[in-house]
Amino acid sequence: MSTPAATPPGGTWTLGDLTVTRFGYGAMQLAGPWVMGPPADRDGALAVLREVVALGITHIDTADAYGPHLTNQLIREALHPYGDSLHIVTKVGATRDEAGGWPPARRPEELRRAVRENLENLGLDTLDVVNLRLGDAQGPVPGSLAEAFEALVELQRQGLIRHLGLSNATAEQVAEARAIAPIVCVQNMYNLAHRHDDELLDELAEQGIAYVPFFPLGGFSPLQSEALTAVAARLEATPMSVALAWLLQRSPNVLLIPGTSSVAHLRENVAGAGLSLSEEDLAELDKIGR
Ligand SMILES: NC(=O)c1ccc[n+]([C@@H]2O[C@H](COP(=O)([O-])OP(=O)(O)OC[C@H]3O[C@@H](n4cnc5c(N)ncnc54)[C@H](OP(=O)(O)O)[C@@H]3O)[C@@H](O)[C@H]2O)c1
Repeated sequence: MSTPAATPPGGTWTLGDLTVTRFGYGAMQLAGPWVMGPPADRDGALAVLREVVALGITHIDTADAYGPHLTNQLIREALHPYGDSLHIVTKVGATRDEAGGWPPARRPEELRRAVRENLENLGLDTLDVVNLRLGDAQGPVPGSLAEAFEALVELQRQGLIRHLGLSNATAEQVAEARAIAPIVCVQNMYNLAHRHDDELLDELAEQGIAYVPFFPLGGFSPLQSEALTAVAARLEATPMSVALAWLLQRSPNVLLIPGTSSVAHLRENVAGAGLSLSEEDLAELDKIGR
């Protein structure tokens, strides 16, 4: 593996005992349409993953449900054996049906199987971080996570998981999990226009827990806003760069996992996220999600 380049914008954060770049990469967009089946451009997908590492990014977010299985297999093909600095964060708790849906799979035996499949497909003996994905496609759903989370804690005791996290979780579920075992991150939907988690994000910052927004660029429907376009035009930057820079400046515990299937977009995002936003820019951008 080539020597990593300079650290991408944002510096680093520590997930438990693992240091990762705050600028990470979300691998979901590498699979086929609606995250089902193989990518249209397989070599292009492998090239994106290799470029992630070449740019110095040390945090990749994935799930065995992407493809399903295929995205993890691509990561393994492109990057295994992994360098010591690279950390792969995966999630369990949802599976795929034939229609491309994401039905929950949170019974203990389903979680044990998902952890085993992640290990096999990624070619690892231990998963660095496993997020328990809760809720449904519409967002978090209240309810106890104890049985599912305790099943993952048991796999952690067996040495199959290094650190635990949550995804698509309510503040109450975060508190419930933390009463059972430490977590290092929460991965929920959040971006310039979708700020339901502002309070949770700030609480996690105080507790030294990472907040990892999924859909940082708006997901399947990229962010569109007149204010964002206006600020980007003033700074001679792309709206995507401004959206990522805003997240990096939002709080030190925010880790980015923007997705792309394009090497050009990946480079553009890494280059652009270092943009420094003024108080005036931030005030204008803040109005988008309020
Ligand atoms: N925990 C969960 O339930 C959950 C749910 C969803 C996602 N996730 C994670 O979060 C990660 C990020 O979410 P996401 O990838 O769905 O959404 P995203 O990062 O918000 O946006 C990705 C979209 O933006 C486009 N894009 C990226 N850079 C661009 C640029 N410079 N110019 C124009 N378009 C650009 C991509 O298209 P191109 O491919 O053309 O660049 C893609 O369509 C995922 O990869 C996944 O790891 C987790």
